Amino acid sequence: MHHHILDAQFASLAHCADLLVKDNCIVLPTETVYGLAANALSSSAVAKIYAVKNRPQFNPLIVHVKDSAAAQQIALISEDALKLAEAFWPGPLTLVVPLKPHVGISPLVTAGLDTVAIRCPAHPVFQAILHQINFPLAAPSANPSQYLSATSVDDVCHGFQHLDHALTMIDGGTCASGLESTILDTTTNPMTILRAGPITLQQLHQHTAVCVNHSDDQAPILKAPGMMLRHYAPRTPIRLNATNLIPGEVGLNFGDCTLGDQGFSLNLSVTSQLTEAAHNLFNFLHELDKRQAVGIAVAPIPHHGIGIAINDRLKRAAAQV
Ligand code: TXA
Ligand code: MG
Repeated sequence: MHHHILDAQFASLAHCADLLVKDNCIVLPTETVYGLAANALSSSAVAKIYAVKNRPQFNPLIVHVKDSAAAQQIALISEDALKLAEAFWPGPLTLVVPLKPHVGISPLVTAGLDTVAIRCPAHPVFQAILHQINFPLAAPSANPSQYLSATSVDDVCHGFQHLDHALTMIDGGTCASGLESTILDTTTNPMTILRAGPITLQQLHQHTAVCVNHSDDQAPILKAPGMMLRHYAPRTPIRLNATNLIPGEVGLNFGDCTLGDQGFSLNLSVTSQLTEAAHNLFNFLHELDKRQAVGIAVAPIPHHGIGIAINDRLKRAAAQV
């Protein structure tokens, strides 16, 4: 399937705003990963997101707003949560907050929960679109459910190569951070990190008391319904904390921890920079997946800072169904 890829110029932005007004879903860049966006107030628009992704309807979507005032129109945001919004928005922090009743958010967006996940994205293309329309955008990552997230339009197209209709997308380059936003449940005391991401526990700690949700792996009722154990997965099996390459495997290295030169490998960051590794992670997994190898061996990644979010994604990518 050939998708419609547009440059990030004024005419494309206006065209995309028009498609959104007409209840279509389109692919837009954010600073984290590419998103599949649609009018959060329209159930017919939001239903298209679920259909394109083949996403289970119990898994709610993040609502993207242009600023914290727009967030307050749809949610009851506590003073502490508002301070976090002021500190980190626009940027890769999603706040789970109580939904205001009767504000028009499609029940498909929240999957029937009485909370809503909201974030204000920093990417200039996404911001420009939000400023051209007068409704918030529901936007999950632009990939088939359970498959790798995408940080370039090429990778979006790779994920959706077998879709039966063309998607319209704006090419905003590669996503700066490369990992999905940190999700913080602000309704608990202390607040709980539901998904590790580019904004780290340490950064949040400077503003408020926060703990980490460790129950998300096996708990039958998940706090973030999308945090199923198997997720972000390439079609090729992944082997973590590898120290060598088994014949037929391709490798994903980090720093000078390399897996040997008997097979094809990529290095997430030759200089051991975790932010560079996060930026490259999904793109390199797409590249390795295309090689249809026996497996992908992944070198150990340091478990601190954004390395915690990288290891979270890798653990889910490696999980068996
Ligand atoms: O960086 C991001 O957050 C990207 C870009 C496109 O903005 N979006 C993204 O969306 O990662 P998605 O749909 O792939 O992940 C959203 C996660 C899911 O795990 C979902 O269960 C959780 O957010 N979520 C949504 N609403 C929630 C709620 N009310 N309470 C708890 N978790 C919620
Ligand atoms: Mg996703």
